[in-house]
Parts: sequence; structure tokens; C-alpha cells
Amino acid sequence: MAEKEYTETSEAQIAVHWGEEGYYMPSVKFIAQANMTDETIYDRFSLDNFPNCYKEYADMLDWYEYWDEILDTSDAPCFKWFKGGKINACYNCVDRHLDEYKNKTAIHFVPEPIEEGYQHITYQELFVRVNEFAALLRDFAGLKRGDRVTLHMPMVPELPITMLACARLGVIHSQVFGGFSGRACADRIVDSGSRVLITTDAYYRSGSLIDHKQNADIAVDLAGKDGQTVDKVLVWQRYPGKASSSTPMADGRDYFVNDVLKDYYGARVEPEKMNAEDPLFLMYTSGTTGKPKGCQHGTGGFLAYTAGTSKYVQDIHPTDVYWCMADIGWITGHSYIVYGPLAIAASSVVYEGVPTYPDAGRAWRIAQDLGVNIFHTAPTAIRALRKIGPDEPVKYNYEFKHMTTVGEPIEPEVWKWYYEYVGKKKAAIVDTWWQTETGGFLCSTIPAIKPMKPGSAGPGMPGIHPIVYDDEGNEVEPGKGIAGNICIQNPWPGMFQTIWGDRDRFVDTYFARYCKDPKSTNWQDWPYMTGDAAVVAEDGYVRILGRIDDVINVSGHRLGTKEIESAALVVEEVAEAAVIPVAHEIKGKEPDLYVSLKPGYEATDELAKKVSDTISSEIGKIAKPRKVWIVKDMPKTRSGKIMRRVLAAISNNKDEGDVTTLANPEIVEEIKKMVQG
Ligand code: WTA
Repeated sequence: MAEKEYTETSEAQIAVHWGEEGYYMPSVKFIAQANMTDETIYDRFSLDNFPNCYKEYADMLDWYEYWDEILDTSDAPCFKWFKGGKINACYNCVDRHLDEYKNKTAIHFVPEPIEEGYQHITYQELFVRVNEFAALLRDFAGLKRGDRVTLHMPMVPELPITMLACARLGVIHSQVFGGFSGRACADRIVDSGSRVLITTDAYYRSGSLIDHKQNADIAVDLAGKDGQTVDKVLVWQRYPGKASSSTPMADGRDYFVNDVLKDYYGARVEPEKMNAEDPLFLMYTSGTTGKPKGCQHGTGGFLAYTAGTSKYVQDIHPTDVYWCMADIGWITGHSYIVYGPLAIAASSVVYEGVPTYPDAGRAWRIAQDLGVNIFHTAPTAIRALRKIGPDEPVKYNYEFKHMTTVGEPIEPEVWKWYYEYVGKKKAAIVDTWWQTETGGFLCSTIPAIKPMKPGSAGPGMPGIHPIVYDDEGNEVEPGKGIAGNICIQNPWPGMFQTIWGDRDRFVDTYFARYCKDPKSTNWQDWPYMTGDAAVVAEDGYVRILGRIDDVINVSGHRLGTKEIESAALVVEEVAEAAVIPVAHEIKGKEPDLYVSLKPGYEATDELAKKVSDTISSEIGKIAKPRKVWIVKDMPKTRSGKIMRRVLAAISNNKDEGDVTTLANPEIVEEIKKMVQG
């Protein structure tokens, strides 16, 4: 019986945690200008007022036809928001701002090479470029409402332009993080059934111009072998009209956007009147199995939720300059670089490169040059910037009124540096806890209403009602200091609608465990299981401890241990693979990979490197393990399950506990000697 709980090791089990901290108050100056200062918002969004409270967010948008049913639960837990409504996300992010803001910058693009300066794309220019590209997608690529298209693009302005052009046509975009490999891209092309791939020839990363086109060739080739033909590859050029990649173009399949676009100059495309519940995009994320899941986000609900939270939590006003340093290839970029901020007429910064290139002052110079006053990043970046340039921020003359942290728990020490040095004690900080699946924030403070508490994400957002359950399904009361599985009691508009093509997996993964009645069409019976462990303090503030499942959060990027393990098994010599999370100073967690070999093979450094390289080519560099440990055998239970708990203890220099019940206890000492020296 004990075997099951010992077989897997979660992040939460090895979380290093800290105590409750004191409160920090936002400044009077911040409160005086804040978008949301009315404390009754928590009453307006109470469970008693659910789901009608969300009308407030829907009303931030322009609808072709107003919706008639706020929440349709008839197909629970696939909830439909704002049913009967007709809307277009691109229209809401672009067209509707033209009257007032056409000359205002929508996107500030910061190329990584300093000498390239800045580009400022106004709302008018965004309108023109989105329309022209939408015309190309429709007339040249033959894409229409409901089709899926895969994007594999870096952080360049053409990425939001492409997304918005898709949204204009009702084409469902699936953007794959630019750092993912061709193989990873292929899997997503196949799963989504895309026959068009949109990519970029090259981009800058840490000072080098990276050939990205080669990934497209790999992706199309592998997708073809897996049964999905891609008949057109549209290639944006980092420098229009100039070759930046040595990878050749395939005749009749690959087209430089720049060449084709000439035929569409001046074109205008009427936005499609989409149903509120039509999918807007897919975002693949890692889960417990090797196969990534395509989280399907709807149009009206997603846009309403991201617009509402951008306004109230990010405190974005049209006069602000807002910089979210995440990558658009992740959900944070979709929700809080593109859709949410643009829906409320923000000026949003898109930075191509790494925050520490070429030195630790780059981010603060960008902030100073562009007058950024709202800054949004992840603990991993904060830790890195703090490590290499703790005194850099004070050298620059920018002033943030507001800062966000997202993606992983932030240590109070790191939070305090962020507050004192980056925010210069003037900026309000929000720690936002949420997920790819949730579309927008779950827990955070509303900055002018609730005080900040380092290390805690804060209470449930207005309209989000968290509950912590133990393994038996009993509620764990706040203030008890006991951790449990954090769930959300109610659906909300930003929530994903299903897993693309796999409703059963959607129900099994997120609802089956705590569902009160699988036949029920009442939302009350379908608490959403987030997959995180959390402790809730007496004041309702939530501290997240990490994942309870087989997901590792590396530098704020979600990686499935099973995904990495199956990549390792691609190497011919490898018999078994086990991945466990190791605590890391900058990245938060890092994967450690243990492999055992098939008989007749020898453990060598070359083989370890081959395994590591294979993981890069199968998934991407971000999944590269800290170390590949080639072991004689895995510690196993008598029934033959790998005891990841033991491996995790060894990698993290912790006590491995009782190993006497193992089938092969002697292997533990041997592995320990190898890893710990
Ligand atoms: C973790 C990123 C602590 C959490 C938006 C979650 C966090 C996973 C926080 C989702 C935070 C995200 N504090 N942990 N503020 N934000 N997480 O899907 O484990 O890439 O389940 O979405 O990141 O990662 P994802």
C-alpha cells in the first residue's frame, strides 16, 4: 500500500519552504492612481454572486451580439461562457482602439542587438499589418475559420501580428515556444492537425543569430512521417529581403512572407464574428504522460478574463508602458503580453533576447529608455539578475509603479531584493499564481486593496474560490499550517475548455479525483484540481509548494518528467530512465536524469553526452538535465517500480529514508557514492 506513494517524487515533496512573512503596503501614490480600489469587489465576486459577477469583465469588451447566457454548464465540466455572444478578439485588441489611440504605440519591439535600436508599432500600423497578413493567410494559405495553424516563432513583433491575424479570421493558432526542437514542434503539428506552419528564419539569443528555419524542416518532415502533411511553410524574415539562415527553402512548400505579402498591401479583412465559445488558440503543456496536452482556450471568456485581470491586477492604463519579460510562446505571453494588455489599449514591450545580454544592466536600460512603469517577470529571472548585478537597477533612472512575479514560488529573500532594488521601494508587487490551463490569474493580490506578503501569492482572485483538499477529499481549513491539494471550487471565464481532441483526458486529469458526481451538470460538483500543493494561512493568503504530479518547473517552464524520460529512451543503449527534480539556486528546479543501460553496453561520458544531446533535439535545450547519471540499476520496489523518491533524496542531499523494503537496497549506497562523492 505504501508503495504507491513512494514511487513518484513531486516538487512539493522536496520543496524547501519558508515561514509566513509580514505585510508590505502599497504606496499612497500607487493607490491614488489605481484602476481598482473598491474593496467591495470581493463581495461583488463572492460565490453568492457567481457566475453573474463576470458580467463586469465581459463588459470591458465590444460584442457584435451581446450574450444571453453567462454560463452554460450543460456539458460540465466543459463550461461555456457568455453563450450566444458574438465577438472577435482581434477587433477588440486592435480595431476598437483606433478612434482614440491610433497614434499610440501598441508594441515596442526591442531587438537583442543594441545597435538596432527600438521599433515602435502604433495601433494604426498594427491594424494595417494584421489585416495584410490576415488576407495572406486567407487567400494565399487558404486558412479559414476553425482551421488550426502551428506557429513556431521567437520573440519578434511578427508573432503577435500572426496571432492577431489568425484571431481575425477565426483560425485557431497554436504557438510552440521558439526554444522547442523541431521534434516537439512536429508533435504539436500532428496533434492539432495543422497543414500550415508559420515560422521565422532566424533570431538573436545571447548575441548569436540562430538559424531557426532548420527546425521547420525537421518539424515538417517528422510530422509527415506521423501522418500530418504540412503543405505550406510561411517564413517571416528577421531582416526582410535578406537571408539570415543558410537552410534552403523547399520549392513549392516554403514561402518568405515578405515576398508574398506584396500582393496584399493595403488589404483589409472583415473580422469574423465568432461565437463566444469558439476556440481562440491551443497552448500545449506538459502533464503526467509523455504526450503534451493542447489546452483549448475559448474566445469570449479568455479575452474577458485577461482584459479584466490586466486592468485590475496589472493595473494597466492606456498611458502606461508595460513590459512583461516572458516569452509569448508560453501562456504568460499569450495572456499578459498580447491579448489582455492589447484588449485594454496598453503599450506592450516585446524583447527579443535574454535579460542579461550583454550585461546585467540591459533590462534596466530598456526600462529607462522606454519609460516602462509596469514590469512583469519570473523569479528565475529575478534570481539571475540579482546574482550577476545586485546593484545595477539603482544606476538607472526608471520608475516602476507596479511589478509582477509569475511562474514559480519566489523566496522571500529574492522578493525583498525585487522590492527594494528593482522597485526602489516604490512599486507595488503582485505574485500571480496560475497555469496554462487557467488562462489568467488564480491567486494574487489586487495591488491597491490587499497588502503584499513576500512568499505568498495572495488570496483567490475576485471570483476565484480556492479550496484545499487532503488526499481523502476532506477540506483542509486555512490557518492550520497543513498542506494539501489546491483546487478551485468554481469555473471562471479564462479557464480552458478542454484538451484538444481528448475530453476524457481533460476530465480525468483535472476533475475526476474530487468530482462529487460525474453525471452532474452543476458546476458545484466539479472542483478544478490544479495539480499544485499549497498551504493557506489564516488571512487566506496562499503559499504554493510546487507540483504534486510528474511536472517539473524549470526556470518557470513546465516540463513533464515522462516527456524527458521518453526522450532518453530514444537512445538505443538506454534501458530505463528516471527524472527527478533537484533544487537549483537560479532555476528553482532542475531535472536530474538517471539511466540504466541495456546489457552489453558500457557507461561512458560520451554516452551520457549522447543522452543529454538527444533530450535537446527531442524536446529543446530547456529540458537538458543537470547531469545524466548512468547507474547499474535503478532502486526498485519488489514489484519493479523505480523509486524516484530515493533518487530525489540522493540528488538533493536529503535523507533517503527507509530503503530496506526495496528489491535491491544495495544499489542505493552505490548511487549515493557516485552522485554525492
Ligand atoms: C507554478 C505559468 C508559485 C505552479 C503561468 C503551476 C507558481 C505551474 C506561480 C504552472 C506562482 C505558476 N507561485 N508557483 N506565482 N505561478 N506557478 O502552466 O506549479 O507554465 O501549477 O503556467 O507553475 O505553469 P504554467
